Amino acid sequence: MDHLRGKAIIASGFHTTRPGEIDFFQNALIAVGNDGAILSVHRPHEKGYAEEKEKHTGRLVSLPHGSYLLPGFVDLHVHAPQYPQLGSALDVPLEVWLQKYTFPLEARYADAAFARRSYRLLVDDLIANGTTTALYFATIHQEATRILADVCLEAGQRALIGKVVMDNADQCPDYYRDASSDAALRSTGDLIGYIRSHPDNTAGLVKPVVTPRFIPSCTDATLEALGALAKQCDCHVQTHCSESDWEHGYVLERHGVTDTESLDRFGLLGRHTVLAHSNLISAANMDTIRWRGSGIAHCPLSNAYFSSAVFPLKAALKKGLHVGLGTDISGGPSGSLFDNMRSAIFVARLLESGVDPNLGPAERSRHSGTWIDFREAFYLATAGGGVALDLPVGQFSKGYQFDAIVIDTASQRGTIRLWDDLDQGENILQKIIYTASRPNIARVWIGGREVSRSPDFN
Ligand code: GUN
Ligand code: FE
Repeated sequence: MDHLRGKAIIASGFHTTRPGEIDFFQNALIAVGNDGAILSVHRPHEKGYAEEKEKHTGRLVSLPHGSYLLPGFVDLHVHAPQYPQLGSALDVPLEVWLQKYTFPLEARYADAAFARRSYRLLVDDLIANGTTTALYFATIHQEATRILADVCLEAGQRALIGKVVMDNADQCPDYYRDASSDAALRSTGDLIGYIRSHPDNTAGLVKPVVTPRFIPSCTDATLEALGALAKQCDCHVQTHCSESDWEHGYVLERHGVTDTESLDRFGLLGRHTVLAHSNLISAANMDTIRWRGSGIAHCPLSNAYFSSAVFPLKAALKKGLHVGLGTDISGGPSGSLFDNMRSAIFVARLLESGVDPNLGPAERSRHSGTWIDFREAFYLATAGGGVALDLPVGQFSKGYQFDAIVIDTASQRGTIRLWDDLDQGENILQKIIYTASRPNIARVWIGGREVSRSPDFN
């Protein structure tokens, strides 16, 4: 493994700092500090390039022709315990899926040995798929959630982790529920302490997250106390928001307002909040989310199974909301951000075109201007996720963490096929986004530490 802390890399590749705008750099020199942050980025024609190169003699890593450096991916919504059911249990609606498949599986994490085995497999697979930052829901269990933090620290993955809070006896089964509101709050506080004082976490690679599962699973007293705790501890917050008709309707009935308004009243919407899904949010909800500076985890693949609606992504981006992508393992049957970028593009196109072949083209859709292309999808999976989390990740800019992946477009076992005379500039990135698979991900660095390397890559 080739750590880059205190070294520099000369690489060609892509990044984006604004939705829709791609920066293609060739033979750029990126210097990385001892703390994993980017010290400088120089292009060959820029002043200082030759000096930086000279300065790093003997500490310079170069990528071979056909390799492209991309920022590592940010996954804004992962249910870590659901990995064993990835690619199954997709035959019923959300409210049935939770009770029939998901709560029984999550309850198994009372077993620490099972938790360790499952979490290690997940974290290793996500890293190998290019996910360098993940925002995780764990389970209600204190011990298993600590194990997830340990595993992320061992593997070197940047992670934000929440012990899931579920204390509402009306919606949560006896076998998988916090013992009481007090117990849930104490356990959340204990986990925050454990992660922040972990001896291997002095640089804060792993962060704690206040995690009410969603409004239906929590009592009002607990939601209110969690809002206060998040402020007091200055923690990230994550929850589900207006995901499906059933869930959205449940909150309207119980609280008389939408999820967004209700969460806001409980003090749960802030700059460090990430709302998963948010498919059914209104224009007024978007204004509230914008005002609070909260982020949205767009989960296009999962939404196809559980939401019966397409998230109004373009409207959210136009309003300036902070949006990134979430795989929603295992509501979405893929842990790959590549798959989710493609899904984000597909569903945005379907929203624009409409889907009913029995209607004429003029009647088929009431939407226009909603589609996105690979450029916006790439933004969501990288810089957009970083902005939503308010972390310096997702782009190759001074002061940002060197979280990066190398795409080997020449990998025989991979699925990218470039043609020198056809594929140049941004089209290379387009082909990477549409056709890359795990064998194409040759190397992965997080905070300048190399954490994964394909055996095929020299
Ligand atoms: N809403 C509450 N819990 C869940 C979950 O585990 N997955 C999804 N997709 N939605 C939820
Ligand atoms: Fe989810």
